[in-house]
Amino acid sequence: MLITGGAGFIGSALARRLVTSGYDVAVMDILHPQVHGEHASIDVPPSVRFFTGDVTHAPDLDAVLRLFRPSQIVHLAAETGTAQSLTQATRHGAVNVVGTTQLLDALSRSGHVPEQLVLASSRAVYGEGAWQAGSAVFYPKPRSHAQLAAGVWDPQGPTGAAAVPLPSCAGRTEPRPTNIYAATKLAQEHLLAAWTAAHDTNLSVLRLQNVYGPGQSLTNSYTGIVALFARLARQQQTLEVYEDGRIVRDFVYIDDVVEALFSAIAHPAPQARCLDVGSGVPTTIHELAQQIATVCGAPDPVVVGKFRDGDVRAAKCDVEQTIRDLDWRPKWTLEEGMRALLDWIDK
Ligand SMILES: NC(=O)c1ccc[n+]([C@@H]2O[C@H](COP(=O)([O-])OP(=O)(O)OC[C@H]3O[C@@H](n4cnc5c(N)ncnc54)[C@H](O)[C@@H]3O)[C@@H](O)[C@H]2O)c1
Repeated sequence: MLITGGAGFIGSALARRLVTSGYDVAVMDILHPQVHGEHASIDVPPSVRFFTGDVTHAPDLDAVLRLFRPSQIVHLAAETGTAQSLTQATRHGAVNVVGTTQLLDALSRSGHVPEQLVLASSRAVYGEGAWQAGSAVFYPKPRSHAQLAAGVWDPQGPTGAAAVPLPSCAGRTEPRPTNIYAATKLAQEHLLAAWTAAHDTNLSVLRLQNVYGPGQSLTNSYTGIVALFARLARQQQTLEVYEDGRIVRDFVYIDDVVEALFSAIAHPAPQARCLDVGSGVPTTIHELAQQIATVCGAPDPVVVGKFRDGDVRAAKCDVEQTIRDLDWRPKWTLEEGMRALLDWIDK
């Protein structure tokens, strides 16, 4: 089992889970300073073979595959800065898109076809997703800067009627990325689908919602609103909530994500599959901030009306298909997960 990006938040938790279940695990990771800080410490069991390497660099991949021929590959190495990707498109394209093609070419050069590939994709591929106004389902355009500056937060329906977001589901919701990061994650899905189909091997794509929990980078200011809020609330700061506070996200606890990945690995699909992994529970950012502030005894959050270009208004998912296919179920409530995150931050 090879995990690219396996020193990261999700990868290291997955590596620990796999080792506990007897898998022979190798990790390839560049230990990116934006994620790990300048002095990276790697939180994986000693039995894990660790290769420091860059997925965009063919010789690094060749070296790993010379020493280790994985039956399965979980591809997690990525640049993950959603907002950052709008101004650093090449950096995101290089690691997420070219890093994936380099991995595939390295497999071809080594003449090795793993039994299974697993990709951590993202709910970001849906963009604004599908919305409903009356009985009409529509895919709104990305919200423009002018719209947000005017404080018109919800995407506009075709007739201007009030609309509500629908939960995304890989089986029925069209992907419509609205930022560069999302476009690169969708490209990864297509690249791996084409390669695995041509090589008669298995692919599981899991579209993850907002993952949070212990092990999350607290130094990377570009990702992780739960970790950011938790850190600020612990310092008794007032949390600022953007737009009108009613941006919606699905926060899924790290252990639930690891179990979904583990289940996908342990029970490969007969062919390619694409599934949503979330808690299945939508939460507004104001609710999140209020819960964290209350637990930390911090001042009530303040809705500030600021916004970020490229943010989607609502991201939530329907996990029924995933529950059926993976024999898995999200177990952690937001409150339980948040308390576990706060305990970890306090250590
Ligand atoms: N955390 C989330 O909320 C979330 C949501 C959806 C999808 N995902 C996806 O899950 C995967 C893992 O995310 P994470 O939260 O653990 O992120 P992370 O930043 O903690 O981990 C990513 C790892 O990839 C490594 N990496 C970056 N560039 C590399 C390169 N060129 N070569 C080798 N390694 C490199 C980093 O050093 C890091 O250890 C990513 O593909 C991400 O797109 C994460």
